[in-house]
Amino acid sequence: MPYAYRIDRLPEYLFADMERQIAEKTAAGRDVINLGIGDPDLPPPVSFTESLQRHAADPDAHFYSSSRGDFEVRKMIAHFFKGRFGVELDPATEICVVLGGKEGLSSLARVYINPGEWVAVPSPAYPVYAQGATMLCDGNIKTLPLLQENGFLPDLTLAEGACMLFVNYPNNPTGAIATEYFWEQLGDFADTHPETIVVHDHAYAEMTFGDYVAPSFLQYTRNTIEVHSLSKVFNATGFRIGFAVGRADIISGLVKAKSQIDSGAPLMIQRAMADGLQGYRGAEPPPEVQEIRKIYGERRAYTEHALREFDLDVTESPATFYVWAKAGEDEMPFVNHCLERDVVVTPGSGFGSEGKGYIRLALTQPLSRIKEAVTRIG
Ligand SMILES: Cc1ncc(COP(=O)(O)O)c(C=O)c1O
Repeated sequence: MPYAYRIDRLPEYLFADMERQIAEKTAAGRDVINLGIGDPDLPPPVSFTESLQRHAADPDAHFYSSSRGDFEVRKMIAHFFKGRFGVELDPATEICVVLGGKEGLSSLARVYINPGEWVAVPSPAYPVYAQGATMLCDGNIKTLPLLQENGFLPDLTLAEGACMLFVNYPNNPTGAIATEYFWEQLGDFADTHPETIVVHDHAYAEMTFGDYVAPSFLQYTRNTIEVHSLSKVFNATGFRIGFAVGRADIISGLVKAKSQIDSGAPLMIQRAMADGLQGYRGAEPPPEVQEIRKIYGERRAYTEHALREFDLDVTESPATFYVWAKAGEDEMPFVNHCLERDVVVTPGSGFGSEGKGYIRLALTQPLSRIKEAVTRIG
């Protein structure tokens, strides 16, 4: 039986092929160092898993939640948002809990993308904007190149006429952060283009190092929706939890779409998220999160330095656990060189045509393993 055409035309998910290659090598007894996938090796904070266990015993934990999320949890998200970003949110209308950013982004796409409409998608980018969001909704992709000479920021004039525009800073895969000027420009764009829903994917909001603190796009405009995730900085990818915040009518649309697809994230996971966010003191993360950031920051500093020693053009950044580097006109010889030495790095072209010539290293291995990988590559 053939698949429906929108599934049929989807390319294989980027990491599916990599997982297969790793499985083959591991089965053959090779010691593979996987720097391919942004799935944290560190465990979640102990307080997070303890909170999860505690809430599993809540008398109402087994009930359906709601697609918008538990009201008490949304109140805690509003409290966190005020302290962290200085932005007031109405928990009744401006917040929706999501089952991870990926679910939030792809559900949101269903709300606004009609078949044949244009969606502005950066390249390189997290593949879900082009595939799980645009292609699964039968939209057409309008590419916004993220070029190194422009700091990996898009030219917004190319987004004219799109029904949706995806942006993501701190950025996967490039690690780039947005300038104040860019946020202001993007805010103006959102305010003057009511036909375009600007979606800010803030999956790496909390994964920053040194003095850099990532702002929320809601500090620049309220004409948007921003998707947050606990996956990365709480090392909680498998728990599937995050939240979307923004304009009430966009949130309502998201809830409407979700209510036909899911019945809300499990209450115990929502409550563990709320407890985790409660640990923030204003913009200051709880000590366990600070410790996690310190570890990723050290890995990043080491890797940036080590790759520069190989004469690679490395993108320096105070954010994300991804190191992005230029590895020639075509990155595949470098990627294959690494693979032959049982080190997996992601080819930049997997994130879109403008990623060609780059490699991405996900620093989701202990520093000792990253050092071993660098030695093997060297
Ligand atoms: C840019 C970006 N957005 C969203 C996600 C989705 O994260 P999750 O669905 O685990 O919240 C990821 C995960 O890799 C990502 O890199």
